[in-house]
Amino acid sequence: MKKWYAVIGDPIGHSLSPFMHEQWFEEHNIDAAYIPVHTEPFELEKVFHAMRTLGISGFNVTLPHKQAIIPLLDNLDETAIAMSAVNTVTFNGKRTTGWNTDGDGFVRSLMAKQPDLEGKVLVIGAGGAARGIAFALKKAGFDSVTITNRTFRRAEELAEAMNGNAVTLRDAELSLAEFSTIIQTTSVGLAEDEGLPLSLDHAAAGTLAADIIYNPLETPFLKAAEAKGCRTLNGIGMFVYQGAIAFEKWTGVSPDTEKMIRILTEKLG
Ligand code: ATR
Repeated sequence: MKKWYAVIGDPIGHSLSPFMHEQWFEEHNIDAAYIPVHTEPFELEKVFHAMRTLGISGFNVTLPHKQAIIPLLDNLDETAIAMSAVNTVTFNGKRTTGWNTDGDGFVRSLMAKQPDLEGKVLVIGAGGAARGIAFALKKAGFDSVTITNRTFRRAEELAEAMNGNAVTLRDAELSLAEFSTIIQTTSVGLAEDEGLPLSLDHAAAGTLAADIIYNPLETPFLKAAEAKGCRTLNGIGMFVYQGAIAFEKWTGVSPDTEKMIRILTEKLG
């Protein structure tokens, strides 16, 4: 019998998740469909109950519902608890579990680019995305994580929760050469003509600069990093790997992530 999966969000029209998951279902001969369900905040509960009643096999959750979905779920995994946000829901009969695969998705993407990751890591930003990435880095065994953020208090709070360090943006700018990896998690770069979250003047050549934004593929941050001779990683890998982890939870199958990164890079390029 055909299985159904979905992604709920508002807006949802531009989500690449339906394309990605349907391609993977096809590649693995899985009889399933994945549909975008435009869900406004006031409809969330109704949509959630409808999906459970209709016997949907699993769904993704995107903005603005990643937190609001939590009280509706039966269980949460430890990453979803740490992040207070859910992007993937699995069903065991009618019982639901919420997961967050964003941070682990980023770390998998990073490890695919640089399997022997070592040295100091700088995370720019202290919002939900930064939290997920810092948590996943720690889970993967990277202890030396430093957080910097426009609002320093938030950097301190996140660093405290992660047992990491917090530095001001200015101090981060001046000490950039100390870091082997710099991860840009803020929303700066999503809108056209936006500047940089911090100056990369002191970045060392060879440093790995990663951005979680994938549309545009090349953000001002990545362009500036490239100009300094840094290696770069755009956000498409994080998107694909967070989806792959969800796909594994739903189907038990590991899809071809590198092929999907190539397809989506071409699509967005
Ligand atoms: P998300 O869940 O996507 O991480 P968020 O919780 O709203 O979103 O966090 C956005 C991040 O981008 C924060 O680190 C924010 O910095 P502040 O804590 O100071 O608000 C950062 N950010 C947003 N706009 C920024 C800008 N113009 N310059 C620097 N940082 C910015």
